[in-house]
Amino acid sequence: MKRSLRRNAPRLAVLCSGRGTNLAAILGAVTHGRLRATVALVLSDQPSAYALVRARRHGIPTAVVERRQYPTRAAFETAVLQALAAQQVRYIALAGFMRVFSPAFVRRYRGRILNIHPALLPAFPGAHAVQDTLRYGATITGVTVHLVDEGVDTGPIVLQEALPVRPRETAAALLTRLHRIEHHLYPRALQLLVSGKLRLRGRKIIIN
Ligand code: GRF
Repeated sequence: MKRSLRRNAPRLAVLCSGRGTNLAAILGAVTHGRLRATVALVLSDQPSAYALVRARRHGIPTAVVERRQYPTRAAFETAVLQALAAQQVRYIALAGFMRVFSPAFVRRYRGRILNIHPALLPAFPGAHAVQDTLRYGATITGVTVHLVDEGVDTGPIVLQEALPVRPRETAAALLTRLHRIEHHLYPRALQLLVSGKLRLRGRKIIIN
């Protein structure tokens, strides 16, 4: 039996809007036993997301929930919650999911949603972190994995790894190097979460 289909492991959904290279890294970590979880669902708001193709190749259930098919954000989020409930999902990994959930949604999964961001938060939050880093002239950047709270990229930090920016580096080149970090950092952070090793003290995370 494929490890990604293993029974009794914590059930994880990966939410993606795009390519899904982090999804691929997560699936690889599950296969090799570095992440002891079942990827129970890959959900996208974009029917053309390549992440869905990757999921289907692994035999993982997929769901497409498009924002424009629902009259309100609340209705959209109810549909997402239903898809998660249908697969008995306990943990959520946001991996390039280009929607911000409402406080009500976050409360529903409080402490159980992780996000990965291509900058050293709290520097350069938002959807254009890599371009913002280069435009600002920062010489060090990196990757952050954090718990999702009600804000945008504001939640407690689980893991970070730094990377020097090269002189005259393009956004594409920097993104490629950041991805290499993401692909080992995200599975590590997810393993800490699903194995119950993260404790919150104020807004600080203590790793047991
Ligand atoms: C990653 O760079 C991540 O930091 C950001 O979205 C990107 C997703 O990339 N949140 P991919 O779809 O996993 O390749």
